[in-house]
Amino acid sequence: MGARSRRLYEKAKRLLPGGVDSPVRAFEPYPFFIERGEGSRIRDVDGNQYVDYCLAYGPLILGHQAPTVVEAVKDQLKHGVLFGIPSELELDLAEKITKHVPCAEMVRFVNSGTEATASVVRLARAYTGKENILIFDGCYHGAHDHFLFGKKGPKSPGIPHVLRQNTLVASFNDLTSVEKIARKNELAAIMVEPVMGNLGCIPPTEGFLMGLREICNECGALLIFDEVITCFRLALGGAQEFFNVVPDLATLGKIIGGGFPIGAFVGKAEIMKLVAPAGKVYQAGTFCGHPVTMVAGLATVKTLERKKAIERTSNFARKVADALRRELGLPVNQVASMFQVFFTEGNVSSSDDARKCDKAAFMRFHRALLKNGVFAAPSQFECWFTSAAHANEDFEITKKAIAIASNEIFKATSSKCG
Ligand SMILES: Cc1ncc(COP(=O)(O)O)c(C=O)c1O
Repeated sequence: MGARSRRLYEKAKRLLPGGVDSPVRAFEPYPFFIERGEGSRIRDVDGNQYVDYCLAYGPLILGHQAPTVVEAVKDQLKHGVLFGIPSELELDLAEKITKHVPCAEMVRFVNSGTEATASVVRLARAYTGKENILIFDGCYHGAHDHFLFGKKGPKSPGIPHVLRQNTLVASFNDLTSVEKIARKNELAAIMVEPVMGNLGCIPPTEGFLMGLREICNECGALLIFDEVITCFRLALGGAQEFFNVVPDLATLGKIIGGGFPIGAFVGKAEIMKLVAPAGKVYQAGTFCGHPVTMVAGLATVKTLERKKAIERTSNFARKVADALRRELGLPVNQVASMFQVFFTEGNVSSSDDARKCDKAAFMRFHRALLKNGVFAAPSQFECWFTSAAHANEDFEITKKAIAIASNEIFKATSSKCG
């Protein structure tokens, strides 16, 4: 935060809608502009340093400028960046994914999580010959037309009305709401974030994911896990390994690209073989399987395999989550290295619970943290993430910042929830 960021934001608002290239990046009074990142820290253009818990919204599980990733990318640049011709690198990363992710017998690489979820829905419809997809209120599956729906209907103008008929919305952690819809409608698939990561962090309740598996088995629908956040964060095999529930298909992204644009959809060979050119379900892209992304992803996965980084990263997250809980006295949900503090009372296990939060109080806390050298995603409805680069020194700075920020905001309001 500072004069240069403020000036750049004024300029950005003239050039980019809202001054940013993705809505969540804009916050009041102005977002800081980045200069560089290294390990667990980032520095803005005004010279302020922050411990980073946003980590580009999840991909950077090894932190900024992870040496193995930087070396792999530098080396690839010497060989060329893009060919539109198959390379062995795609096979290397696909082999890692099929080795670790339980449902992944085959992989199609695309360029973003959004692209992965848009493609997988076509595949599910083609495979089952049915059109309805059941999703959950509060889950996010990318910015395309198919899934931008909540209980109250479309989340954006411009979404064709006809799509509404085929996208059915149930409540997360509520199997009864799923059964009700499944009884009345022929479903091609049930699509779910196994841990809701786009309304804060909301874990599945005991038996919820297995319940979805059973409903899918009974009604002949495919179960699709959107593991764009969770794969290689909860475990090498993602949420499906962590919770021991295997879907038919899954979408991946973020971490598997080591910080470069990526998405993938994976699943049982019998289904994946419908994808063109093996089958008739069309999917294509100039940048799919991008060599630089492949080597960055491969370096990330190899580092995670060698270093027990997932375990350390999760342990670090637990310490920060405990500090938030202790200082603020508010509910904190944590699964492995993703977590969020909720400015509300009581447990948060549904989208309705999360929406009751005092978002303004969260943003006051966020601003106070920033002033004290800690950056988390600027929304009550995102997650904090930790990386293998976060160390004790970061924890000390964070603990102190949380204590000061907590003091500051609760001094301003007598109530903890605003
Ligand atoms: C669960 C989930 N699915 C899909 C997406 C979309 O991914 P991308 O932003 O790479 O398009 C996101 C993005 O945050 C996500 O969290």
